[in-house]
Amino acid sequence: MSLLAPEAVSRRAAAARRAVVFTGAGISQESGLGTFRDADGLWSRFRPEDLATPEAFARDPERVTSWYIERFEQARRAEPNAGHRAIASWERWFPSLVVVTQNVDRLHHRSGSSDVLELHGTLWTWRCARCGAKRDAAALPEQRPPACVCGGIFRPDVVWFGETLPLAEFDRAAAECRRADLFVVVGTSATVWPAAGLIETAAAGGALIVEVNPEATPLSGAAACVLRGPAGEMLPRWSREIERWRSPA
Ligand code: APR
Repeated sequence: MSLLAPEAVSRRAAAARRAVVFTGAGISQESGLGTFRDADGLWSRFRPEDLATPEAFARDPERVTSWYIERFEQARRAEPNAGHRAIASWERWFPSLVVVTQNVDRLHHRSGSSDVLELHGTLWTWRCARCGAKRDAAALPEQRPPACVCGGIFRPDVVWFGETLPLAEFDRAAAECRRADLFVVVGTSATVWPAAGLIETAAAGGALIVEVNPEATPLSGAAACVLRGPAGEMLPRWSREIERWRSPA
């Protein structure tokens, strides 16, 4: 079988000390969770302005919270795939490996990744929109929308359009991207900011940029190497190629 990535790229990746893996919905597609902007993506069936904005929540909290509870249930039933597991396995190679994800499904955590920055929050914890009280998604009150004892309504701990990203996570992600020597972009359309801006931060820091995506994205031209296929297939295969150039510990 021919090499997936040019030898020089895999050699450089094998010698990396600080790696950042930046992921989007595509890495969870093979776990059965839909992406957003693909032909059959969530935004082809639902309008983001009806479900993923603070205004939508204020307008129709029952519809919004029911939709996110359904997405939480899907994420809870889903299992990490070979792509998630390959990334988690890289922790034995790189002294520093940080996963910077736009995903809210916690599949990176469940596949064993120990250093994950969730830029867009998570479906697994919710907070009261009035008093801020936190609650695990699996322990939300039964009624819809889920009400807090203060009279407020619980909302998912995700970042909606028009909301700011969690500052601590974003600042750390930017710092890690600035000093990364390997930056692997997996399963994102690289169109949502400010997260997509991290790619430029890594490039400006001199990182080797590798994209994993079955489709071309605005990033493809700037990547040193593009692995054009599904993450669950490409990442385990590339891992075997990198392994060839890893000097025995
Ligand atoms: N493996 C790798 N990539 C894949 C796969 C796969 N199996 N299947 C699809 N993809 C790619 C698509 O080609 C597309 O480029 O994943 C990308 C998914 O892009 P989006 O649906 O736009 O998802 P994402 O980039 O994560 O969206 C960013 O937008 O809607 C908001 O908050 C939401 O975090 C999300 C953000």
